[in-house]
Amino acid sequence: MRHLLSPLDLSTDELDKLLDLATDIAADPDKYSECCNKKKLATLFYEPSTRTRLSFEAAMLNLGGSVLGFSSADSSSAAKGESVADTIRVISCYADICAMRHPKEGAPLVASLHSSIPVINAGDGGHQHPTQTLTDLLTIRSLKGGFDNLTIGLCGDLKFGRTVHSLIESLLRYNNIKFVLISPKELRIPDYIRESIINAGNHEFVEMERLEDAMPELDILYMTRVQKERFFSEEEYLRMKGYYILDNAKMELAKKDMIVLHPLPRVNEISVEVDEDERACYFKQAQFGVYVRMALIMTLLEVDVPC
Ligand code: NCD
Repeated sequence: MRHLLSPLDLSTDELDKLLDLATDIAADPDKYSECCNKKKLATLFYEPSTRTRLSFEAAMLNLGGSVLGFSSADSSSAAKGESVADTIRVISCYADICAMRHPKEGAPLVASLHSSIPVINAGDGGHQHPTQTLTDLLTIRSLKGGFDNLTIGLCGDLKFGRTVHSLIESLLRYNNIKFVLISPKELRIPDYIRESIINAGNHEFVEMERLEDAMPELDILYMTRVQKERFFSEEEYLRMKGYYILDNAKMELAKKDMIVLHPLPRVNEISVEVDEDERACYFKQAQFGVYVRMALIMTLLEVDVPC
């Protein structure tokens, strides 16, 4: 039985296959509409989510399966003090597969050790967010044709932004990527991610503070929200919140074929005027998220691809 706890749990070959499947689903979703008949997905969300939870649910419903679950710790037995280990043992009796989001780093890993169904990490604290990474990779491959030789700017909260951590770790398996890490000093990427880039050996990276300076060379700009819920003080959050705002004036500095991605939700870091720019691809990215989660559910449940 397979789980997905980190984006590296899939080899690059398996990842290619999964992205091929997602691409085929995107081209003809109806072909897949009965693949998971009678299968159930449990969504165990101890932290708020719109896109991730609903895109998992939409994915399972699109496959003909059904869904059950909870969307906050308060509405689960966690509020009574139940452990993740006990919850997953019980959920294993009710569902065939589960997606778990938890504020504590490593909670989905703990769940996987006590589970008899596949566990998907749908975001654990400031650590990892592998299914957002699958979404990002499908979007990049579909819109840019591949991963090698790209210059990607990651901007905003690189310290707490788990989507950034997972995306960088995944991209390190490809060749000659330049990472332009744009953040205030206080929100720079964690040391373990910087070390991973250095140890990979075949990539370049620079760290800078001004988005304007980075814009002209980027093929992809990956914007992120300042992660309010992971700050210790409101004052510190407010100071960081307005640090980067992507607007039309900054877009003028970028290549004509650069794409802007964002895992969403956006707060104020991308001005709404940018939505009209054809390089703004973050809503397309959210749509890709459903197809890639359909492919993931099929892969982990070992469901046959219909002819
Ligand atoms: C991201 C997350 O939860 O980490 N959202 C998402 O899943 N699409 C990004 C964020 O919350 O900023």
